[in-house]
Amino acid sequence: MATAVVTGAGQGIGRAISRRLAADGYDVVAVDRDGDAVRETAEMVTGDWRRCDVADPASVAALAESLDRVDVLVNNAGIWIFADLAGTSSDDVRRVLEVNVMGVFHCTQALAPLMGPGSCIVNLSSNASFSNSPGIGIYPPSKAAVESLTKQTALELGSRGIRVNAVGPGMIQTEGTQANYEGDRGAQRARAVPLGRTGWPEDIADVVGFLASDDARYVTGQVLYVDGGLSAGRAAL
Ligand SMILES: NC(=O)c1ccc[n+]([C@@H]2O[C@H](COP(=O)([O-])OP(=O)(O)OC[C@H]3O[C@@H](n4cnc5c(N)ncnc54)[C@H](O)[C@@H]3O)[C@@H](O)[C@H]2O)c1
Repeated sequence: MATAVVTGAGQGIGRAISRRLAADGYDVVAVDRDGDAVRETAEMVTGDWRRCDVADPASVAALAESLDRVDVLVNNAGIWIFADLAGTSSDDVRRVLEVNVMGVFHCTQALAPLMGPGSCIVNLSSNASFSNSPGIGIYPPSKAAVESLTKQTALELGSRGIRVNAVGPGMIQTEGTQANYEGDRGAQRARAVPLGRTGWPEDIADVVGFLASDDARYVTGQVLYVDGGLSAGRAAL
């Protein structure tokens, strides 16, 4: 059976992607730095799990050593720090770039040798990569780098028949973003979205499922925004 590796699979979007890919028939290897959470995901999808910090090359090398083949790699693990750039320390910048950018690099470099023609990589970007807003500091530049990395990787792996794309979520309610939706903030945010609601992890997982499928066999080097229309503009108020 084909194997799908999903990073950041302990909760949120990564857990939903694991469920979708398992439903599509993949053997899922759920990966996260939080061992308890990712074991729970693996139980849900009757899959396997690994504890791994994508920011740490040695940890990713151990992950790669433990796998025989990879058909789908979803580089989903990501973090953000709410702070203006002026209030962001060098250590914070380093941490966000190490997980969001270097994490994608480490996993791609270590796992691509286990991938063959017809396999694919899906990276998680964000519509924040171009719609910058105050208060999230280094996160938008980190996701802009993920998009550039996606295209660069697509060019390098195309000749081996490996497709590489990115999905850019908008405002998705997950464990990691729940604080943004407390009180009337959720309704306020929903009003800005052309489709009139904020998103759920499954909205993203279903598009990852499509990009991983043979229906997307001629799609590579693309970024698909899954944001209820936010990248087209804000809804009329
Ligand atoms: N939720 C949104 O609104 C939204 C919007 C745009 C983009 N995204 C992107 O989607 C992805 C998932 O977001 P989410 O909301 O589900 O996040 P989340 O915080 O709910 O979950 C992230 C998971 O990644 C794991 N993780 C973090 N750092 C890791 C590391 N170094 N190594 C391994 N695992 C690590 C965490 O333990 C957690 O289980 C991220 O890349 C995020 O930037 C999310």
